[in-house]
Amino acid sequence: MSKPFYVTTPIYYVNDKPHLGHAYATLSCDVLARFMRLDGREVKFLTGTDEHGSKVAKSAAAAGLAPQAFADKVSDSFRGLRELMNFTNDDFIRTTQKRHHEACQALWKVIAERGHIYLGKYEGWYSVRDEAYFAEEELTTASDGSKRAPTGAPVEWVEEPSYFFRLSAFQDKLIKHYEKNPEAVAPASRRNEAVSFIKSGLRDLSVSRTTFSWGIPVPGDEKHVMYVWFDALTNYLTALGYPNTAPGSDYAKFWPNVHHIIGKDILRFHAVYWPAFLMAAGIEPPKRIFAHGWWVVQAEKMSKSLGNVVTPESLVARFGLDQTRYFLLREMPFGNDGDFSLEAMATRINAELANALGNLAQRSLSMIQRYCAGVLPAPNAFTAADEKLLGLADNMLPAMREAMEVQAFHKALDAVFATVGEANRYVDEQAPWALKKTDPARLDTVLYVLAETIRQCALVLQPFMPNTTSTMLDLVGVAADARSFAHAGARLAAGATLSPPTPLFPRVALEEPA
Ligand code: MSP
Repeated sequence: MSKPFYVTTPIYYVNDKPHLGHAYATLSCDVLARFMRLDGREVKFLTGTDEHGSKVAKSAAAAGLAPQAFADKVSDSFRGLRELMNFTNDDFIRTTQKRHHEACQALWKVIAERGHIYLGKYEGWYSVRDEAYFAEEELTTASDGSKRAPTGAPVEWVEEPSYFFRLSAFQDKLIKHYEKNPEAVAPASRRNEAVSFIKSGLRDLSVSRTTFSWGIPVPGDEKHVMYVWFDALTNYLTALGYPNTAPGSDYAKFWPNVHHIIGKDILRFHAVYWPAFLMAAGIEPPKRIFAHGWWVVQAEKMSKSLGNVVTPESLVARFGLDQTRYFLLREMPFGNDGDFSLEAMATRINAELANALGNLAQRSLSMIQRYCAGVLPAPNAFTAADEKLLGLADNMLPAMREAMEVQAFHKALDAVFATVGEANRYVDEQAPWALKKTDPARLDTVLYVLAETIRQCALVLQPFMPNTTSTMLDLVGVAADARSFAHAGARLAAGATLSPPTPLFPRVALEEPA
């Protein structure tokens, strides 16, 4: 068994229902997890909810519920994404679970015992929306004269006793870490952003609060609850059974192979604070952090007040699940921002799924029904054109592996759709419909090459479109136990009786719904 693979989503605040941005974040991890499993790796895929802190406490109060009851309700709606989106997470963590309290307190104690936490007093600005502290010079002034965080969120002045983490002591270590491990944060622009923040000078970080109680108590000083980001980040260790770090534990197996997929807005917490907390505890910093971009709607952030929130439910209902999964990872290169539009979605589904991939399968498999009574013919000698197409098909998996290793979903899909395009040209050029009378031996070869190409496309597309590719593999007669990537090189066995194809991707109408 090759290297274990651990992939994590951010844990979602329960102040709001899941929207497209959240579904996108978890989808990217699901596709990675499925890919690595099919490639024979032992995978752990974690998602969950972030339930403490003043932001959640305030939302609960506004909803007239106790924080725990409120968190239970919203956490369930995030858990529901699993079924809606066909996610395969192995665990769902909630920061209000006992295992998490224990892990946080254990981590805190280790860091404190090693001398990296001290008691002081915090005086400064705090943004509840961002759950973040900001220095005076980072703030801007709104048109009404009020001070704002760099994200535009309102800030409040906070003065309270607080424990501090000696972040300043980790400045040089963090710089060295990123010099030595340039791949630890991607894309490179995000690494540069993190490194320049570190180089601009790190101040010690307030890591406890006393003015509210919705959090995990600080061990030995229960007037304090832990800063919600200390609590939240620790979830990645909790799910591995931390503080059990014994050889043979999940921690020992998975921590060295962790991949944190996050949004660009939470880079500083993951690429600066988190590795520093870990170093302070004597734990290796994360191997890989990938910060993806944002889906926006007509250049505006999705928000309840603008009324432009796109829900995953609405897309799945209108376009289908696999179409939605495909579009989200195909439309914008992972790492970039992108404008969401229903029209772009319909256009891409029609061009790439209905016309290219769906049509390739439909016309090729219909000809096997029509000309070969539904039996997969045995090929005769391959021509240069056959070899070329099969060579392209064989090259998809190695190209995808390279792309998925660096979370480049769009490149992985490029490799497949280049082959699909080539296969459709091959059909047009070989014109199998004309061979029935003139050269039946050649017809057999062409149809075999097409079926084999379809098998390989379906095989490697499984992580992106699990349902449709399962149908495609059924249609070309691939047994359920021959669908891992270990079978990529095994050609289809001729002589199998194939079921008549049904259309895989219906064309969708372009007009906006009324
Ligand atoms: N609770 C913290 C994360 C703690 S991780 C230890 C948090 N939660 S969040 O619910 O506000 O956001 C979770 C993720 O959703 C972030 O990575 C954020 O980038 C992502 N997205 C929220 N809206 C988004 C879009 N419109 N587009 C893409 N992703 C976006 O931050």
